[in-house]
Amino acid sequence: MKKLTIIYWSNNGNVEVLANHIAKGAKEAGATVLVKLVSEATVEDVTGADAVAFGSPSMDNNRIEQKEMQPFIDKFKLIPISNKVTGLFGSYGWDDGEFMNKWVSQMKDYEFNVIQNLTVNEAPSKQQLVEAEEMGKNLVK
Ligand SMILES: Cc1cc2nc3c(=O)[nH]c(=O)nc-3n(C[C@H](O)[C@H](O)[C@H](O)COP(=O)(O)O)c2cc1C
Repeated sequence: MKKLTIIYWSNNGNVEVLANHIAKGAKEAGATVLVKLVSEATVEDVTGADAVAFGSPSMDNNRIEQKEMQPFIDKFKLIPISNKVTGLFGSYGWDDGEFMNKWVSQMKDYEFNVIQNLTVNEAPSKQQLVEAEEMGKNLVK
């Protein structure tokens, strides 16, 4: 049974809804799923999983959230992550997904194997929630 860890930051709930739908899809595919706020997540939650998903809004000038999510991600500069299967998801207000392009590139530099990303404008649509569920399934294939 595959183990997926989903770690996210959310202020208003848009990213949280995506996290919950990614979890739903992965559970339907038979995986064990751990969902955590980044403030409660540990390095072991990432290193011990078969696949991971990280979620953040675009904040602080079109970047992922900088006080908790960015420092957590930066821990993996020094920790070997050996191409772990990874999905990134998030929500933006006006940057058209620019924050996600930067995030994907950084995660690849840290040797995460980013196989998929999902960005939505503010609250996800019904179709985007279905896409989140599909992402959960893909990550645990
Ligand atoms: C303090 C603050 C800063 C934000 N900065 C940006 C930004 O730099 N670029 C952008 O596209 N959206 C920005 N947004 C919009 C959020 O990314 C958007 O509302 C998102 O859906 C929030 O996700 P959440 O509901 O999970 O907190 C900002 C929102 C807030 C409250």
